[in-house]
Amino acid sequence: MTTTLQSIIRDAALAPEGKLKIDWVQAHMPVLNRIREEFERDQPFKGLRVAISLHLEAKTAYLAKVVKAGGAEVVITGSNPLSTQDDVCAALAEEGITVFAKYNPDAAEYKDLLVKTLETKPDLIIDDGGDLVTILHSERRDLLPQIRGGAEETTTGILRLKAMEKDGSLQFPMVAVNDAFCKYLFDNRYGTGQSVWDGINRTTNLVVAGKTVVVNGYGWCGKGVAMRAKGLGANVVVTEVDAIRAVEAYMDGFTVLSMADAAKVGEFYVTVTGNKDVIRGEHIANMKDGAILSNAGHFDVEVNLVELAEMSVSKRTVRRNIEEYLLKDGRKIYVIAEGRLVNLAAGDGHPAEIMDMTFALQAMSLRYVNENYKEMGKQVIKVPYHLDEQVARTKLESLGISIDTLSAEQKAYLESWAAH
Ligand code: ADE
Repeated sequence: MTTTLQSIIRDAALAPEGKLKIDWVQAHMPVLNRIREEFERDQPFKGLRVAISLHLEAKTAYLAKVVKAGGAEVVITGSNPLSTQDDVCAALAEEGITVFAKYNPDAAEYKDLLVKTLETKPDLIIDDGGDLVTILHSERRDLLPQIRGGAEETTTGILRLKAMEKDGSLQFPMVAVNDAFCKYLFDNRYGTGQSVWDGINRTTNLVVAGKTVVVNGYGWCGKGVAMRAKGLGANVVVTEVDAIRAVEAYMDGFTVLSMADAAKVGEFYVTVTGNKDVIRGEHIANMKDGAILSNAGHFDVEVNLVELAEMSVSKRTVRRNIEEYLLKDGRKIYVIAEGRLVNLAAGDGHPAEIMDMTFALQAMSLRYVNENYKEMGKQVIKVPYHLDEQVARTKLESLGISIDTLSAEQKAYLESWAAH
């Protein structure tokens, strides 16, 4: 029996537009479609409530529908105030999913929607960035006992979970979806690489070729952003704090500079470090007139907007999702989407074919945690390799690509140590 609760959304009349968006992505998510068929057959979540906090756009909506198809009662909220799409929320609410989400709520309302989601007393959770888990382990510990476990989407969330695991605070197992091969190799690199430039390009409508793009951070996401900037014809500068990654960026053909030096040359900046205060007043002081700042990290902490505001005499919106800060010396600095993650706050997130793999892993990890949570311990759990491989194999199949298999002799050769 499903007991859909009253959704809190912006406008139910937007449902038809949202439904079209969901249908479009569904047609491009073959791996998740396969899982939906398995879930319909096996009903792995029958009688359970699943709370989801993810960027609430069409691909996420389809994941919610797949989890519901597995028998769950689904309650969903956003994971960033600017990444929720109201039409998608309306469509989901019409499908019997409880939605507590709106585009651009204020900070208090955003938090309240997360708390309301947890107050439905879910058995399982899907989190992106760790907000659900953090609320459960701080102000709403009363809701902890019901939770069997969950799955976390992103690098930032896993860092927070590992800190909790380390100091013994974590109270249930969480599967680290981000760390699966079929997640970070594709979503972080090719997904972020494409969606960040999609967001910047559709928002600015300016040329990238010939300009200097500074990418702060050369993790998997940074690698993707830098690679695609190069493809667009930019001169790409990378800043890093990790010596090995800095060498990697250099050998990949990029100019590696300190931020103090990079601040003097960039026309576009993309922070993608997961850390705070990557671009600060001391850097902005030396920037070129017209520099465009954007962030692709989970939280809006990478560009220090407080210091930027302090250096400015005025601020105004000059185009949808672009704010112009007029500095005291007359230079103008532009910030996209208030320094929130540019690919989702000023775009639609990663392409459907990429989120297909990520959300297939989410769906399978949720099932895995539900079937094994009693033995898992209160830990951060890896996605089992066979699930990762299953996603890759289904993806290849959907692409019509066959690969070779080892013969028995070849396997034996690889496993032997005697003289070759
Ligand atoms: N769409 C939904 N969740 C997303 C994420 N974490 N990154 C990019 N696009 C997304």
